[in-house]
Amino acid sequence: MTLITQEENACGTCHKRMLDKDSVHGPAAVWACSTCHDPDSVPNKYRLKSEEAELCNGCHVNKMEDFKSRYFAHGPVGAGLCTVCHDPHASGHPSFLHGKPNAVCLACHEGLDQGTHVVRGVGGKAHPLEGPRNPLDERKTFSCVSCHDPHGGEAQYLFVREVKSSFALCRECHPK
Ligand code: HEC
Ligand code: HEC
Ligand code: HEC
Ligand code: HEC
Ligand code: HEC
Ligand code: HEC
Ligand code: HEC
Repeated sequence: MTLITQEENACGTCHKRMLDKDSVHGPAAVWACSTCHDPDSVPNKYRLKSEEAELCNGCHVNKMEDFKSRYFAHGPVGAGLCTVCHDPHASGHPSFLHGKPNAVCLACHEGLDQGTHVVRGVGGKAHPLEGPRNPLDERKTFSCVSCHDPHGGEAQYLFVREVKSSFALCRECHPK
C-alpha cells in the first residue's frame, strides 16, 4: 500500500465526495482503491477483485479467524456479507457503520424495538435498547451490540463476551 495523495490518484478527481465523512477507512484513506477494485476489469470497470469477505479477510486476518471460531455465526456474517453493515470507504459512525448501530440492526430486524424486547420491567416497561453509555465499555453508547455480538457468539442469540445464557448475560451488567 503506497501513500499517495488524491491528486495523484486516478479515482480521486471524480469520487472524492465519497470520502468526505468523519472517518475514512484505512486503504481508502491512502487512496489505495485498487486494493479492492480492479481497474482493468471488463465489461464492468472497477469490479471487486474477489468476494467481499475475502477482501476484508486479506487485511483483517485475525478478525475473521475470531469470527469463524464462534459456535454461531450471525446470518449475514456467515454469508460473507460485511458491507450490509460496514461502509468500505468512509463513515460518520463508529466502526464505519452505515448508521447508528440500532438503525443498522433494525434495517433487517424490523419492529424489534416496538414490543417488549427481553424483559418487562416494573409497570410493563421494556428493557432500554439504547442509552448514553454501555456499562461494559464506557466509550460506547448502549445499543443492540451491548448485548449481542454483531458477528457471532457461543449462544444462539449471539450474546457478547461469549456468554451462553440470557441469565448470565444479565449478570454481566447487573451483578447483584
Ligand atoms: C472521470 C471521472 C471518474 C474517474 C477518474 C473514476 N470514476 Fe468511478 N465512476 C464515475 C462515474 C460518473 C460513475 C457512475 C456514477 C456512480 O456510481 O457514482 C462511476 C462509478 C464507479 C463505480 C461503480 C460501478 C458500478 O458498476 O456500480 C466504481 C466501483 C468506481 N466508479 C470506482 C472507481 C475507481 C476505483 C476509480 C479509480 C481507479 C474510478 N472509479 C475513477 C466517474 C469516475
Ligand atoms: C476495502 C475494500 C475497498 C476499498 C479500499 C475501496 N472500495 Fe469501493 N467498494 C468496495 C465494496 C465492497 C463496494 C460495494 C459496496 C456495496 O455494495 O455497498 C464498493 C463500491 C464502490 C463504488 C460504488 C458504490 C458506492 O458506494 O458509491 C464506488 C464508486 C467505489 N467503490 C469507489 C471507490 C474508490 C474511489 C476507492 C478509493 C478511494 C474505493 N472504492 C476503495 C470496497 C472497497
Ligand atoms: C488493505 C487492507 C484493508 C482491507 C482490504 C480492509 N481493511 Fe478494514 N481496516 C484497515 C486498516 C489499516 C484499519 C485501521 C485504520 C482505520 O481505522 O481506518 C481498518 C479498520 C477497519 C474497521 C474499524 C476497526 C476498529 O477497530 O474500529 C472496520 C470495521 C473495518 N476496517 C472493516 C473492513 C471491512 C468490512 C472490509 C472489507 C470490505 C475491510 N475492512 C477491508 C485495512 C483494511
Ligand atoms: C450485522 C452487521 C454487521 C456485519 C454483517 C458485520 N459487522 Fe463488523 N461490526 C458491526 C458492529 C455493530 C460493530 C461495532 C461493534 C461494537 O462497537 O461493539 C462491528 C465492528 C467490526 C470491527 C471492529 C471492532 C471489532 O469487533 O474488532 C471489525 C474489524 C469488523 N466489524 C469487521 C467485519 C467484517 C470483516 C465483516 C464481514 C465478515 C463484518 N464486520 C460484518 C456490525 C457488523
Ligand atoms: C442484512 C440483514 C441483517 C442485519 C443488518 C442484521 N441481522 Fe441479525 N440476523 C439476520 C439473519 C438472516 C439472521 C439469521 C436468521 C434468523 O435466525 O432469524 C439473524 C439473526 C440474528 C440473531 C439470532 C436470532 C435467533 O433467533 O437465532 C440475533 C440476536 C441478531 N441477528 C442480532 C442482530 C443485531 C444486534 C444486528 C445489528 C448489529 C443485526 N442482527 C443486524 C440478518 C440481519
Ligand atoms: C439488554 C440486552 C439486550 C439488548 C439491548 C438487545 N437484546 Fe436482543 N436479545 C436479548 C436476549 C436476552 C435475547 C434472548 C431472548 C429473550 O430472552 O427474550 C434476545 C433475543 C434477540 C433476538 C432473537 C429473538 C427475537 O426476539 O427475535 C434478536 C433478533 C435480537 N435479540 C435482536 C436485537 C436487536 C436488533 C436489538 C437492538 C434494537 C437488541 N436485540 C437489543 C438481549 C438484548
Ligand atoms: C450490556 C449491559 C446490560 C445487560 C447485558 C443487561 N442490562 Fe438491564 N439495563 C442496562 C442499562 C444501561 C439499563 C438502564 C438503566 C441503568 O442505567 O441502570 C438497564 C435497565 C434494566 C432494568 C430497569 C428497567 C428500567 O426501566 O429502568 C431491568 C429490570 C433490567 N435492566 C433487567 C435486565 C435483565 C433481566 C437482563 C438480562 C436479560 C439485562 N437487564 C441485561 C444494561 C444492561
